[in-house]
Amino acid sequence: MSAVELLAEIAGVGRDRARGGYSRHLFDRAEGELRTWFTERAGRLGLDVETDRNGNLWAWWGAPGPDALVTGSHLDSVPGGGAFDGPLGVVSALDAVETLQKEGFRPGKPLAVLVFAEEEGGRFGVPCLGSRLLTGSIDADRARALRDPDGGTLAEAAVRAGFDPVRFGRDEEALSRIGTFLELHVEQGRGLIDLGAPVAVGSTVIAHGRWRFSFTGQGNHAGATLMSDRHDPMIPAAEVVAAAHRIASRVEGARATVGRLVPKPGGTNVIASTVDVWLDARASGDDQVRPLVDEIAHVASEAAAAEGCVVKLAEESYGGSVAFDANLRDELTNFLGGAPELPTGAGHDAAILAPYARTGMLYVRNPTGISHAPEEFAEDEDVARGARALADVLRHLST
Ligand code: GLV
Ligand code: MN
Ligand code: MN
Repeated sequence: MSAVELLAEIAGVGRDRARGGYSRHLFDRAEGELRTWFTERAGRLGLDVETDRNGNLWAWWGAPGPDALVTGSHLDSVPGGGAFDGPLGVVSALDAVETLQKEGFRPGKPLAVLVFAEEEGGRFGVPCLGSRLLTGSIDADRARALRDPDGGTLAEAAVRAGFDPVRFGRDEEALSRIGTFLELHVEQGRGLIDLGAPVAVGSTVIAHGRWRFSFTGQGNHAGATLMSDRHDPMIPAAEVVAAAHRIASRVEGARATVGRLVPKPGGTNVIASTVDVWLDARASGDDQVRPLVDEIAHVASEAAAAEGCVVKLAEESYGGSVAFDANLRDELTNFLGGAPELPTGAGHDAAILAPYARTGMLYVRNPTGISHAPEEFAEDEDVARGARALADVLRHLST
């Protein structure tokens, strides 16, 4: 089945009727359906599917072994996300394997399609949990205790989905198998539109992280409480939203976003008791992100004090900037006939793996330039070109 047909096959899974687009989150029903679908599809290609200690799925073409050539991406989404971020890399990998099989090719080294357990942090807040657990770049106890918006822990959700969270943690054996990891991904900006090219090679990922400001005030009645008597945590929360935009706009290449603001209890006629503000901050320089957050945190403290509220700040995740393996990048660029090289502001499992294995990325043109929204797109023709490029690259790298 082609990548386009495979995408069509999962087009009905995890649709979010309230938000639009897709909500496919770690250990929820849609994500479970996609795991079953992947296992079945990979099985039909004769691949042996195994799940590692951290819930990542590996589909092996031939016997698992060291120095393997591994390709894949993720199947989870942001809340209300598009159809391509993640799944495009998975379906392109299956398509590439099938193409190579039909061409009679047999890889000269172990080859696997890898589906990371989760990449977006859409449910438990921390992104790239599959690759962070695999590499040990998140403490397993901390991961197990992460909570979803309903208050349940990752460990509880894992057990309910049939996984054993006690086994979570750095997986030396799985990690040692990855010689090269290549992730194909839909482009999440306008780079390829502007260049008029269908496929690019990834160069760098900027530094990025997530922080949570928790403001506590006094819940109360929206009508009976005089304006002068309030301790409304929504007021300093609003200051943080505006400060993030203002402060990041002054730093070249920086981005700061509040995409998630959670008032409790969340009633129209209720002054909130607490408000959680999730800040996503990114910048090209490793030394730029934390100072940016410090400046926003200063605004948060002053605004909280002025409203008689208390604020706590937690760093939920952080990843420094990453340059993908230079030799691999040059090899891919030359092999693909001088494909353009693109930096990205988006995070990827490939970036988490970069310190541990030879790692690279391919991007496929997105004609809307929009991502993490239902408008994210790739033309069928470009999906096919991306899968073909991946097949050619896998053939080249595995001989
Ligand atoms: C993942 O797509 C991210 O960059 O947040
Ligand atoms: Mn994403
Ligand atoms: Mn992604």
